[in-house]
Amino acid sequence: MNEINASNLVIIKLGGSVITDKSKERSVKKDTLNRLSREIAESHVSTIIVHGGGSFGHPLAKKHKVNSGLKGSTLIGASLTESAMKELNLYVINSLINHGIPAVSISPFSIIITDIEKVWSYFFETINFSLNIGFTPVLYGDVVLDKSNGFSILSGDKIIVELVKYFRPKSVIFCLDVDGIYTSDPKINKNAKLIRELSINDAIEIAKSSNNSKKDVTGGIKGKLESAVEIARIGTDVIFINGNRHNLLQKTLKGTIEIGTLLRGLKS
Ligand code: ADP
Ligand code: IPE
Repeated sequence: MNEINASNLVIIKLGGSVITDKSKERSVKKDTLNRLSREIAESHVSTIIVHGGGSFGHPLAKKHKVNSGLKGSTLIGASLTESAMKELNLYVINSLINHGIPAVSISPFSIIITDIEKVWSYFFETINFSLNIGFTPVLYGDVVLDKSNGFSILSGDKIIVELVKYFRPKSVIFCLDVDGIYTSDPKINKNAKLIRELSINDAIEIAKSSNNSKKDVTGGIKGKLESAVEIARIGTDVIFINGNRHNLLQKTLKGTIEIGTLLRGLKS
């Protein structure tokens, strides 16, 4: 078996805001998804792909209060959310396969247990084995079992933190629907400035000043920045780019950040 060299591995997050239309329940942006699949295929970089919930996961998780677990939600609400995520995941898997990427779905519900938002146990051997024989593992933000609350929602971003601890990839690329991290929300503040190189301290400050998203059950940009800080502290570079800009993902995978934000991993 060819052991994958982790220093060549890149973890990609396809944000829910990029691959789905968040204003319309259960709608996939098929053209965007297909273009991103093509860009990943043409880069020939070995990757683990993690995608978000977008208009499949968030509305159902919110409606059924899935984050409050057995006390405030229902098993059927959790099941419906888990099933919607599988539906979105199938679109992603099929798009990747159609572009020649040997994608395999790894359901977070089946391999991760949390305890109040913290990953308590996981089984990543399947991901490792898949990578080593040449598959591209695909995970996603999901409903997971939770030791204290029965079940909960775990974002793709938090899953990536655990993957980084285990696989020590070269970098993590977050594909967003904006050009990177700004001084404040660019959709609200027209004077917000794109930060080309973000320090860990700046990331912490911006996370503190960002509000939890009302539509997202996993904290929006605040949660994403908190995960990014954890990743950088482990020593892995984090790059934020706009997944809607053509060919940017492919260029970034090849090592050129034309437009975006870099948060450098701490070197020990
Ligand atoms: P995704 O669904 O792609 O995982 P989110 O929707 O959770 O991403 O976060 C991206 C959104 O965060 C952007 O659309 C943007 O409007 C919002 N946002 C809020 N504050 C910032 C900021 N300081 N920099 C960049 N984006 C921000
Ligand atoms: C959310 O995952 C998963 C569910 C709501 C079930 P993420 O937090 O990674 O999703 P996005 O990227 O914000 O849509």
